[in-house]
Amino acid sequence: MEIIDNPRDMQSLAASWQAQGIRTVLVPTMGYFHQGHLSLMEYGREVGSRLIVSLFVNPLQFGPNEDYQRYPRDLIRDAGMAEEVGVDILYTPRAKHLYPPGYQTYVTVDSLSQGLCGAFRPGHFRGVATVVLKLFNQTRPQVAIFGEKDYQQLVIIKRLVADLDLPITIIGRPIVRELDGLAMSSRNAYLSPPERSSALCLYRSLLAARELVAAGERSRQAILDTVQQIIAATPYTRLDYAELVDPETLEKVQVLRGAARLMLAVWVGSTRLIDNTLLKET
Ligand code: PAF
Repeated sequence: MEIIDNPRDMQSLAASWQAQGIRTVLVPTMGYFHQGHLSLMEYGREVGSRLIVSLFVNPLQFGPNEDYQRYPRDLIRDAGMAEEVGVDILYTPRAKHLYPPGYQTYVTVDSLSQGLCGAFRPGHFRGVATVVLKLFNQTRPQVAIFGEKDYQQLVIIKRLVADLDLPITIIGRPIVRELDGLAMSSRNAYLSPPERSSALCLYRSLLAARELVAAGERSRQAILDTVQQIIAATPYTRLDYAELVDPETLEKVQVLRGAARLMLAVWVGSTRLIDNTLLKET
């Protein structure tokens, strides 16, 4: 595995692979790898002949009072894990190269970015869309793989690619969970032992909602009431939002017909966790 940190070197290697018709896959990450990241990489290995993993903690997608500074970082550990999975290139650009002085171009995916996390993290998806487009331009993948835990991000990236006519196939992969159901996230590292127990309320809410739907419940209000009660009864937690949305447009769904996505963002102590699940009529 090679580590490349210079965008020009990355771009010229990617261009030569493209000229040779080599099928390149990109897995964009912010590092501090866990099994969720590794599962995206393993899948990437299967669907392409070259696998690039980008590792960049993107300052543009963090608000002024968010965790950019304390976001966990460990390049040596990450490089070892990536190498083991068979990554070809670990691409680790620096902020000063991606956003040099004078930088002023940003990508906004309009209404999809406004609700859910967008409402609580102003500018977050503008930062995500901007860096992802830059990473696409630097690595020129035919395929890019994202996790469904960041479901709104996945929908936004698919829209970006369609709207800007990018010749890239976006693949979303299922959430990877700890044995007890907690969705894997680099931010889980922030949780104290009691907070770690409380964090399970997200998964318990999703399961409760699934059970309600299996028992015939279709009303948004009834589903969200149950979720809100579970979160409210759990110590150290504060709900940002629980929403039932259309899986493609992310618009609110009043009555479940066919399928909807239940989306959650919950503070556990000073850690903000997100999770989601597909709810389907049977
Ligand atoms: O999901 C993430 O880790 C980040 O939002 C991404 C897609 C790597 C962009 O910085």
